[in-house]
Amino acid sequence: MIKKAIFPVAGLGTRFLPATKAQPKEMLPVVDKPLIQYAVEEAYAAGVREMIFVTGRHKRPIEDHFDLTLELEVALEEAHKTDLLAVVRSVKPDDMECIYVRQPRALGLGHAVLCGQRLVGNEPFAVLLADDLMIGTEPVLKQMVNQFRDWRASILAVQEVPAEHTRRYGIVAGNPVNSHMVDVQRIVEKPAPEQAPSRLGVAGRYILTPGVFHEIANQPRGVGGEIQLTDGIASLLRREKVFAYRYEGKRYDCGSREGFLQANVELALQHPELGPGFRQFLSGLCESTLHPQHNDA
Ligand code: G1P
Repeated sequence: MIKKAIFPVAGLGTRFLPATKAQPKEMLPVVDKPLIQYAVEEAYAAGVREMIFVTGRHKRPIEDHFDLTLELEVALEEAHKTDLLAVVRSVKPDDMECIYVRQPRALGLGHAVLCGQRLVGNEPFAVLLADDLMIGTEPVLKQMVNQFRDWRASILAVQEVPAEHTRRYGIVAGNPVNSHMVDVQRIVEKPAPEQAPSRLGVAGRYILTPGVFHEIANQPRGVGGEIQLTDGIASLLRREKVFAYRYEGKRYDCGSREGFLQANVELALQHPELGPGFRQFLSGLCESTLHPQHNDA
């Protein structure tokens, strides 16, 4: 139903310097997988087969990651490491296509999405921000595609955010349609808490109708001097229905160091192989940090 997804990956990742000095932030691993792979796997699980990466300079490792790594595959084959070979091959299933387009200047998220316009054409599409690592029993984008089937309109993933965090998000307000869906009436990019129309913050998953391209193209620069996706959606609202969907699952803000560390710890605990040992290590660590005297004795 949704066959194409845009992954804006041109950002500089300044919050992770020096780690991101010469490598894309999207390639930072959570446990053993780069952030971008989580987002791509989520899109694939939702039925998306055409992955459109909007890249910039220094982003070649992302292209390499989703490319064939022949030497590695041959080496693993010769060493009969079939498990690892399967891991390597599963990064890009045969029926998945990866397309790269450059965002020549960092003019904002709206501008990045606009760079994918020609590749998307005239059909609804998804946008996934790899910084937001989403873990749901059912992948979050799949939940949204299921909703799209019923509503046939743009859908934004949302969650309640603390009042003091409204400045970090696009904030939506509207009329509840059911326990999960809100008929959006307003959307504002990163408002101060006093100006926020609600506490429903947009997480980095969107299903958008192609009409949004025209709206983004006509936006002046918004918050931070950037062409904002949120502003394009605010204009789209005047012509089409837009819904906000309270997803089921957990979001880690891997654009921040705290969120990134939390994701690593929680996902390591859940990891089938590493989990048990890591749990033991962590509880030992907590014990010795909380009760140092026990160790001294
Ligand atoms: C972007 C969007 C914002 C959204 C957020 C989700 O902001 O502009 O509306 O709520 O992603 O992570 P960024 O985090 O890129 O500053």
